[in-house]
Amino acid sequence: MADQTYYIDEDVGEDTTTQTGAEDLPYKTLGFAVLSHGEGAKFLTRKSVTGEVPEGLDEKARLEWKPAAKAALKKAINYAKAQQKKAVKEKELLALRTKEEADRKKVLDEAKKIVVEEDMSLPKAEKIKLDETDPAKVKLGNGADVKGTRVRVFGRVHRERKQKELVFITLRDGYGFMQVIFSGILAKSYDILTLTRETSIEVLGELREVPPGAKAPNNRELHADYFRIHDIWKAAGGEEAITNRVSKDTEHATLLDLRHLTLRGEHASKVIIVRDAVEYAFNQVYRELRLRKVSPPALVQTQVEGGATLFKFHYYNEEAFLTQSSQLYLETCLPSMGDVYCIEKSFRAEKSLTRRHLAEYTHIEAELDFITFDDLLDHLELVMCRVLEVTMADPVIKQYIIDLNPEFQMPERPFKRMKYSEAIDWLVEHNIPNEDGEPHNFGDDIAEAAERRMTDIINRPIFLTHFPVEIKAFYMQKDKEDLRVTESVDCLMPGVGEIVGGSMRMDNNEELLAAFARENIDPSAYYWYTDQRKYGSSPHGGYGLGLERFLAWLCKQHTVRDCCLYPRYFGRCKP
Ligand code: 4AD
Repeated sequence: MADQTYYIDEDVGEDTTTQTGAEDLPYKTLGFAVLSHGEGAKFLTRKSVTGEVPEGLDEKARLEWKPAAKAALKKAINYAKAQQKKAVKEKELLALRTKEEADRKKVLDEAKKIVVEEDMSLPKAEKIKLDETDPAKVKLGNGADVKGTRVRVFGRVHRERKQKELVFITLRDGYGFMQVIFSGILAKSYDILTLTRETSIEVLGELREVPPGAKAPNNRELHADYFRIHDIWKAAGGEEAITNRVSKDTEHATLLDLRHLTLRGEHASKVIIVRDAVEYAFNQVYRELRLRKVSPPALVQTQVEGGATLFKFHYYNEEAFLTQSSQLYLETCLPSMGDVYCIEKSFRAEKSLTRRHLAEYTHIEAELDFITFDDLLDHLELVMCRVLEVTMADPVIKQYIIDLNPEFQMPERPFKRMKYSEAIDWLVEHNIPNEDGEPHNFGDDIAEAAERRMTDIINRPIFLTHFPVEIKAFYMQKDKEDLRVTESVDCLMPGVGEIVGGSMRMDNNEELLAAFARENIDPSAYYWYTDQRKYGSSPHGGYGLGLERFLAWLCKQHTVRDCCLYPRYFGRCKP
């Protein structure tokens, strides 16, 4: 009302509808008062009635109501106008949404009436996996004179795209992807209209070539004539939709908490599928080379790679550890089985959060009898290259590797062989300091960062050999020509660094016992290991390859954490 007066107290007033704007119930802001009563009314304001007196106001002035200043009123009017505009827009939007909801409800009510039934006069559908391309099993139709095979497939909805009359989905079953098209009453049915990603579905239909210019997996699409979604097969939608839980922008830690969902993504699943192929290839190549597979225990009472990284636990009434390496057990198999290997878990209680350390990793270890150090290096190079050949021979796996690591090239053979002492010289020449910031010296442990820089610059696989006795494990054979160093090897790969550690083993019992003494290890727990030297010793050696590190290199993954199913490392033991 034009002649009405409203009061604004900036201290104790309140911008709520319980206030009237009367002197005893003032508003807090002029903007709110104008918005509530229009710009024509009279507005009296005061700064403060409580608390400290604002600078420049005396005691009396602060209790005095004054007409709102012109500039303040102008600002308040603009504010009120903007608020009114916003309210109109919100109302319009709400009306639109209500209408849309009503329309959608109408469509869904209609959709519920549609009964999808299988046409039993159609040919029997052949159950196939989504990657089945064998022409003897599936023929592609052309939508005209050539009929395609009628198939039955199962999978989860990887992606969906709805058009007016057609619904396209990309189906995923772990073997491959298939484009499926729903048309006619299927596209209008309730289950298809409300379809959410990750829902499980059974689809029957005819396989056809994609139209020219269109793209789809295996250049084909399934024209559905029938589908089935059981109620419990439906995936959560809305807020809980999988796309709201994991996406490209989700933080790495959250992705790891939700690894069970992350694994459904194309990137994570490719790595894990390549991993399966690589592990299989190792088995195949070892068989070709006549190594036998064994399965040593994980619960042990001996250390292999130093006490600092042992996970200890109570084993009934005794102390025991999770194994760091199966090497010592593999050595015990040589006399009865010949050359042996294993693919088992190793455990390291490393309190490190680097991108190449796990607490639990898959260790591919082999042990060879009656060999020289050069034989060991040749064997290792052969195994690694042959594994890559076998892996890349599968066109699907090859494509996955190229997708993940477009610049991948087979390593050049022979691998560069470099002695530890040469590496020290190289690091000094290239001004790459040790961990103390000093030039490297013979005897220094080459730290992860320096090792990786050297490997990245050389940019090819390196066999780094002959490490000093002091920085290597107790069991390593000394080099007869230079007793300061061991017949040891680390295989270094660009981008990752060390992926293999191996050596010839000390085969002289006296020497071994001296090594135990040097390392302060009680040899009595190792009676079964020293017995190997007592009953027919032999020149032998072996190595351990970290599968996750090999994959990080092959699939160009930043961290080994993304190269295993559910990574375990310092601070993470879930899911
Ligand atoms: O160099 P390491 O410690 O050697 C051994 O355990 C030997 N006993 C193996 C043998 O000769 N049979 O480990 C071998 C390889 C490393 O090169 C690395 O690839 C991997 O195992 N590895 C790890 N991978 C992930 N996380 C860790 N914490 C790892 N520690 C070692």
